[in-house]
Amino acid sequence: MNRRELMESLKGKDKVRILFVCLGNICRSPAAEGIMADMIAGEGLEDRIELDSAGLYGGHAGELPDHRMRVHARRRGYELTHRSRPVKLSDYDDFDLIVAMDNSNYDRLRGFAPTVEAQDKVVRMIEFVNGFPQYDHVPDPYYEGAEGFELVLDMLEDGCREMLRELEK
Ligand code: 4NP
Repeated sequence: MNRRELMESLKGKDKVRILFVCLGNICRSPAAEGIMADMIAGEGLEDRIELDSAGLYGGHAGELPDHRMRVHARRRGYELTHRSRPVKLSDYDDFDLIVAMDNSNYDRLRGFAPTVEAQDKVVRMIEFVNGFPQYDHVPDPYYEGAEGFELVLDMLEDGCREMLRELEK
């Protein structure tokens, strides 16, 4: 199933459950979750769309998002309060859409999927991003400076807007 077919299959569902996934679950995926939560609240869709985020590396479990990401996000009005947690097998049942930030996340999430149906739920965030044609992934900002965090937030705002637009269609 490709992305369009997957998004099509979500139409008519009472509730769509989206899990954003990156490596540490302290930078990109909690930012995506916070941005999407803000957009969903803006449209009054809190009852229709459920969000969470998780990481493929569990070393930051229990932590708030990276301080730098929280500062950059707060400047745009997003308060990031998610606590990092590792991806778990039941996520493939509990979510309709599992959104990978980069290609390594994508390959690992597809690889761990227990069934073909579960594998089909995994998509790349970049496929929803319209404005950054030079990227094939959302880059890890962890070892970058301020501009790395700003770039990630720009890309995630773009991608979340498109994802919501496709869900509302
Ligand atoms: P994230 O960034 O995957 O966007 O949360 C990272 C956070 C922590 C690490 C790597 C990436 N780390 O290696 O600890």
